[in-house]
Amino acid sequence: MIKAIVYKSNTGHTEQYAHLLSDKLNIPCYSLREANRKLKKDDGIIYLGWLFAGKVKGLKKASKKYKINCCGAVGAYPKSENYTKNLRKANKITSPFFYMQGGINYEKLNFVYKKILTMVGERIASEGNENKSELVDVFINGKNCVQEENINDMKEYITKNIKIVK
Ligand SMILES: Cc1cc2nc3c(=O)[nH]c(=O)nc-3n(C[C@H](O)[C@H](O)[C@H](O)COP(=O)(O)O)c2cc1C
Repeated sequence: MIKAIVYKSNTGHTEQYAHLLSDKLNIPCYSLREANRKLKKDDGIIYLGWLFAGKVKGLKKASKKYKINCCGAVGAYPKSENYTKNLRKANKITSPFFYMQGGINYEKLNFVYKKILTMVGERIASEGNENKSELVDVFINGKNCVQEENINDMKEYITKNIKIVK
């Protein structure tokens, strides 16, 4: 049983996915900070966090306070089975887990983060990689890859398996 979607977003992509899910499933949606006021300890939630160096931001904090029934991560790389599997393992996620491609918004990043991602982009551009042109577009130019269809797997899982308490 869940009461809300709780998310942590830095530049907005995770927030966009949280709102898309919230609208489609008719579940309230709060940032991790807002959830402090809106939810109680041990309330059931769906958690979405942005990826920072392979870690789902805010997940540890959220899991200490709430019962996470389903988790989503939003990163810059395209979705693949292998990437999703590795993220699940690295973050020790035991609940159902879904990865969605967000994007990179250089206008909203601070100087240090901008520098890090630009360097990653330059490295990708200099290497041979099967998704190279797509990755260069995201990492060098900055691109929003949020699409409504990317929530489909997570939405379907929630609809079939999770009871929402109003
Ligand atoms: C410092 C830094 C580290 C990042 N590490 C990863 C990563 O390990 N994997 C990934 O897929 N994306 C990574 N990203 C990209 C973000 O997860 C991506 O831009 C995401 O869409 C951000 O979501 P937000 O707009 O909700 O903050 C990183 C971004 C920054 C700034």
